[in-house]
Amino acid sequence: MKILGIETSCDETSAALVQNGKTLSNIISSQTIHKYFGGVVPEIASRIHLQIISKIVEDALNEANTNIKEIDGIAVTTQPGLIGSLLVGTNFAKGLSLRYSKPLIPVDHIEGHIYSGFLEKYDVKFPFITLVVSGGHTILFLVNSFSDYKIIGATRDDAAGEAFDKIGKLLGLEYPAGAKIDNLAKKGNPYKYDFPRGLINSNDFDFSFSGLKTSFRYFIERNFGNYSKIDDVVLCDLCASVQEAIVDVLVVKSIKALEHYCIQSLVIAGGVSANSRLRTKIQKLAQEKGFNVIIPKIQYCMDNAAMIALLGELKLLAEGKERFFRYDITANPTPIRSRKK
Ligand code: KG4
Ligand code: ZN
Repeated sequence: MKILGIETSCDETSAALVQNGKTLSNIISSQTIHKYFGGVVPEIASRIHLQIISKIVEDALNEANTNIKEIDGIAVTTQPGLIGSLLVGTNFAKGLSLRYSKPLIPVDHIEGHIYSGFLEKYDVKFPFITLVVSGGHTILFLVNSFSDYKIIGATRDDAAGEAFDKIGKLLGLEYPAGAKIDNLAKKGNPYKYDFPRGLINSNDFDFSFSGLKTSFRYFIERNFGNYSKIDDVVLCDLCASVQEAIVDVLVVKSIKALEHYCIQSLVIAGGVSANSRLRTKIQKLAQEKGFNVIIPKIQYCMDNAAMIALLGELKLLAEGKERFFRYDITANPTPIRSRKK
């Protein structure tokens, strides 16, 4: 089965071809213009999607050496995300589906992340815990089957990626700052400064990162005034220490969830799962405790259409083609809470 995936929920325009869980192409165009505004400007994001979506889809088909008539279905992110951005992908996919009489499979972006660890492995074994950790979300899911999962914990304020981005701004780093902090941290001492680890000892699986952000801001103001007074060595130590605070909470809560629910496998997904310290720490601790950790390849951590196509393929296999010739699907900005059929 060959599926075309389309993803436009935020500031990445992406199209991919996936066949039997294998990626044939995965074109991602990231909108860099938002760095001038310190965050994603929804109106600009949707306009750029509109300008390049057809070229991105064409490139994905060409790279996969595939004619659109050969595909078995079109999977598209319909929720959650920026409404203007979602509308571009959803309507483009609808148009293609009508024109070429192909099944149209609506995919939830977060569900896409949940299964992204299985791209190219294709051996989804239930149950598992997934930590979806990105610029917009920090959520722990207990996943029992495709149609049965629930949220067991989530951030009460900022997402972890948002904390990376906002702290990066305080350090004079361009948006998105997560990968930049990760790189600078490699040259720093993670134990140099002790920043708060919100809710690390709470008896639930929730997260909180806004206290860390505020504490970091006061620390910078008190000791340096602003980032222009911070030298390179201190910058690396600050990045390493603040990254350690974020990673510690993510690791502790994920392991706690595995133990509490007696689950053997953990999937970590979303942009922040690209973080090198998170990947190393969670893998080491999980190995010590006998858990199995699945983390997507770096190119599947960020927003991408391959994960959308993969889930589209799994849905089509599980539910059959007939129910996917419906054109009343609409873009929906709100996040899912849980699913049980
Ligand atoms: O999943 P994603 O591409 O988009 C959202 O759905 O948000 O995630 C983007 C987020 C940004 O906040 C970015 O700073 C963060 O992921 N990120 C990282 C790293 N690479 C991306 N955070 C920490 N370390 C990284 N290496
Ligand atoms: Zn995402």
